[in-house]
Amino acid sequence: MEMMDSSDENLRKAGAAIAAGKLVVIPTETVYGLGADAFNPDAVARVFEAKRRPAFDPLIIHISRLDDIERIATSFPPKARLLAEALWPGPLTMILPKRPEVPDIVTSGLDTAAVRFPVHPVARKIIEYSGTVVAAPSANPFGYISPTTALHVAKTLGDRVDFIVDGGPCAVGVESTVIDMTRDIPAVLRPGGMPLERIRDIIGEVLIPGKKGGPIASPGQLKSHYAPRATLYLHPWNSLPNALLQALSGAVAADPSAAPMAAIVFDSSRASILAESGLFRRIDVLSERGDMREAASRLFALLHELDAAGFGIIHAERVPEEGLGRAINDRLYRASKK
Ligand code: TXA
Ligand code: MG
Repeated sequence: MEMMDSSDENLRKAGAAIAAGKLVVIPTETVYGLGADAFNPDAVARVFEAKRRPAFDPLIIHISRLDDIERIATSFPPKARLLAEALWPGPLTMILPKRPEVPDIVTSGLDTAAVRFPVHPVARKIIEYSGTVVAAPSANPFGYISPTTALHVAKTLGDRVDFIVDGGPCAVGVESTVIDMTRDIPAVLRPGGMPLERIRDIIGEVLIPGKKGGPIASPGQLKSHYAPRATLYLHPWNSLPNALLQALSGAVAADPSAAPMAAIVFDSSRASILAESGLFRRIDVLSERGDMREAASRLFALLHELDAAGFGIIHAERVPEEGLGRAINDRLYRASKK
């Protein structure tokens, strides 16, 4: 594996490597992606292998200009067009009916393809220089926390890829919102970096999973996902400290040898009460000022850090279920499942 900075020369090299069938890790605004030429089934197969990803979980195809849609999709419905005009490039992935030329391995045999136009200039240049479109899942071993820095990738997949392009930390920090545009009423299959509210402002009614009669989430939205090695206990918004602290102090009193615990809270309002309890070796605030964007951008890096520090137990609190908070809560929930 070769790690490289994002000089134009290196981006050309990375693009050429993708065209030659190699695996290149590229920075995007959401998380780092493990990219390969979407029209090269062998290269795509190596992506699945490198991640140990099950073949039933399809990949997102990344484009660097709107015209690329024509190479992937048989139609671009009016509502999809509206979303593209307003929100692309950006952290939004649209499911569209696929062209037969798109290899089945990319879409896990589905007759739809996921398409994303990233806004990160490094990602766009690499795709452009590759001369193709790029299939790229998040660059983490399957089921583990997604990477938001080049170092996260180097530590976990470093020996299984050809190049890692370092574009600095990812600004959004959670994966793109996935929306199925093949239905009359579009359906969000994964909450992510594009808030639902913004999508509804543009196209009106949108279904969300979890509700009765709602859509089935994406094939990759397994219950256990984004999981740190630590056991993560997830608590309702605003429930730390109160009743929980009482329960915890009881448990620690009963077993003083219990493993050191870390806590994750959304804003600084309750951190001091947690600190006074003396129960936690470490308390992390996702955003001191309660800023949801900052919280999202820090979440995965924090989970990586707590794992590296060897914490066995993490107590985390949900954040308010609005804007990017939906994506944060979704990732925390899946991280809490084993
Ligand atoms: O932000 C992102 O989307 C990042 C960066 C690298 O672009 N990529 C990413 O890819 O998160 P991945 O593979 O980790 O997640 C892709 C999700 C999975 O849940 C997969 O099941 C879903 O998209 N997906 C892909 N194609 C689909 C399809 N045709 N229908 C339904 N869901 C699909
Ligand atoms: Mg992923």
